[in-house]
Amino acid sequence: MANAMTLATADADGRPSARIVLLKDFDSSGFVFYTNCDSPKGQELTINPFASLNFYWKSSQRQVRIEGPIGRVSDQEADEYFATRPRGSQLGAWASRQSQPLASRQSLIDEVDRFDKEYGNSSVPRPPFWSGFRLMPLFVEFWQAGEFRLHDRFGFSRSAEGDAWATTRMYP
Ligand SMILES: Cc1cc2nc3c(=O)[nH]c(=O)nc-3n(C[C@H](O)[C@H](O)[C@H](O)COP(=O)(O)O)c2cc1C
Repeated sequence: MANAMTLATADADGRPSARIVLLKDFDSSGFVFYTNCDSPKGQELTINPFASLNFYWKSSQRQVRIEGPIGRVSDQEADEYFATRPRGSQLGAWASRQSQPLASRQSLIDEVDRFDKEYGNSSVPRPPFWSGFRLMPLFVEFWQAGEFRLHDRFGFSRSAEGDAWATTRMYP
């Protein structure tokens, strides 16, 4: 399964930012990734809960664009996923104040060690600032490269979850 995707968010002034995150789950209710909720992306998604995802497959010359409203997954869902992660990743989630200035790599390693000692032999709980977001698609576009840049593009759009999709072929 392709799992690296570009996530675009915008701040309260409409300034966009984009970064890669990993797709961890998807079904008819949407596309899920996990992150530090206090990170810039987490803050932007709280202020402006609408986002765009982008997948690109160079080998097959395909792009998929997805847009829609986004919200936090339930605490139970996040707990269940967090519990499946390796202990090292769990400790890393506690240690990382994602996107804050970090004095040195050693400081990060020291933080991980601190949490490792704190939890000892017990299981590591999910940090309250770490969770998942689910984007519910209202627009999906499939792009397939064509000869002489005569690409095929199909857009699927709907106004709300559960509505029928309207399909449009678009100029390349
Ligand atoms: C292949 C790849 C996968 C990544 N997966 C995630 C992810 O699942 N969650 C996450 O928070 N950051 C992930 N990152 C790091 C983000 O791209 C980004 O650097 C970080 O989340 C901080 O973003 P922000 O400052 O915009 O909040 C990944 C980066 C790469 C290159």
